[in-house]
Amino acid sequence: MGRSIGRTNGAVVSSSLNADDILAKLSALPLDSLHEREVMLDGEPESLILYRDAAGQMRAWLNVCPHAGRRLDWSPGQFLRSKQGELVCAVHGATFALPEGNCVAGPCRGDCLRAVALQVEGDVVRLNTAD
Ligand code: FES
Repeated sequence: MGRSIGRTNGAVVSSSLNADDILAKLSALPLDSLHEREVMLDGEPESLILYRDAAGQMRAWLNVCPHAGRRLDWSPGQFLRSKQGELVCAVHGATFALPEGNCVAGPCRGDCLRAVALQVEGDVVRLNTAD
């Protein structure tokens, strides 16, 4: 049975994830670090980018570049960063501000990564399955 996953763009999709599925332990994620997780969204496997920002807050986006729909990492979980700390797509170099996830340079300037809602309870990071 599917679950609803809220995205910040207002779209709601279903997921086969159980409520107890854990994406990460907060204590295992350094500040200002990027990670990749494979999840089921709407019955389909999806790659997510997890970002723990410098203040410790968590964000997630689909690992899909708005330019050409390719993954941003050059190898699973291996993300490029600019000298200023921005996230750089490994395919054609689109550059995304962190923690906002908006493209500030490159072929899709002005577009945004598609955010996925998370919930953090104590040390546990999960997809937000609330409607
Ligand atoms: S697919 Fe990311 S910049 Fe082209």
